[in-house]
Amino acid sequence: MIIPVIIAGGTGTRMWPASRRALPKQFAPLLGGNTLFQDTLMRLSGERFDAPCVISNEECRFIARDQMGAVGIHDARHIVEPLSRNTAAAVLTAALAHQSQPDAVMLISPADHVIRDTAAFEAALDVAMPRAEAGEVVCFGVIPTHPSTAYGYLQVDRGSDASVQTVAEFVEKPDLATATELLGRGHSLWNAGLFMMRVDTALNAFRTHAPDLMAPCEAALSLGGEDLGFHRLSRDAFKRCRAIAFDRAVMEKLPKCTAVSLDCGWADLGSWSALRDHQVDTPGGNALLGEVEAIECRNSLLKSTNPDMALVGLGLDGIVAIATDDAVLVADASRSEEVGKAIEVLNARS
Ligand code: GDD
Ligand code: MG
Repeated sequence: MIIPVIIAGGTGTRMWPASRRALPKQFAPLLGGNTLFQDTLMRLSGERFDAPCVISNEECRFIARDQMGAVGIHDARHIVEPLSRNTAAAVLTAALAHQSQPDAVMLISPADHVIRDTAAFEAALDVAMPRAEAGEVVCFGVIPTHPSTAYGYLQVDRGSDASVQTVAEFVEKPDLATATELLGRGHSLWNAGLFMMRVDTALNAFRTHAPDLMAPCEAALSLGGEDLGFHRLSRDAFKRCRAIAFDRAVMEKLPKCTAVSLDCGWADLGSWSALRDHQVDTPGGNALLGEVEAIECRNSLLKSTNPDMALVGLGLDGIVAIATDDAVLVADASRSEEVGKAIEVLNARS
């Protein structure tokens, strides 16, 4: 059995204005239908999985619980962070919460992904499982399509087509020049952001590579307590954790890990251009969501979240236009990684 550990405490700032502090992208109906969080839960339920462990921030705890209930999940262990300390502290806290089962295998999963081919995803888990059970840290590699700066890169020892590879180097979010250089070497995969390992493997990796996180995370868990069915971490203790991504705190430092190839229509809907690329549904390369019309547009994303507000694009190329009840974003799609700047500007005004 695999314990799904769903890290769902991100703020999704690059998806403003559809993603807000009170409703980050993983909980927002980005594509209509289920949210990405609910899709993640469904993907990680079924006979090979134990009840999930969800780690979200305090503000979104009831939204997360409601969304779990709506897809029939009532048995999650739900850890609540009183403040954000990025993913290393979240992963370590989940591992500590399971330390009574040291040889149980966890699948650490983000909550902001789409995966089109569930059968191929499950086949990759089957390849990964014996490796994780044997004590390896397993990550999942996707064949890159361009030198993105939004992903981690796995430098593997052979070509990019073998199903299991040894990772010689893990490079988290390189700059464009480095990403281009890594792709040029021909032995690079994108890190899909999913990690599989035993609980004791995770704890040992933290003890070795991020020992400063151990004491505050242990204290956050033990000094925290049950609260309306949530396990709330102690604010004072958790505040002392260094805010750092798991990828940088642990994965970049591991001398060795294993990559299993993942070819399942994977996408991280991390930015509006990623969503456009995933959702393209017209010959001109546009993605149209909600009450929108595109006249002679190309390579553009038009999305309206308000059924009473029509959004019309005319002659657009490479533009993202997102209309919500109280804010509209119009941006060059190639700059959608920078959308967080909009929030900074608005915050500075108020
Ligand atoms: N609990 C908790 N607390 N969860 C968090 C926090 C936090 O402070 N910060 C982020 N998360 C959650 C997000 O909600 C998301 O589900 C997941 O952790 C990953 O965070 P992102 O912020 O989306 O990471 P990323 O996409 O920039 O980078 C990661 O994923 C890429 C692939 O999607 C890295 O693992 C990259 O190496 C990888 O390529
Ligand atoms: Mg992401």
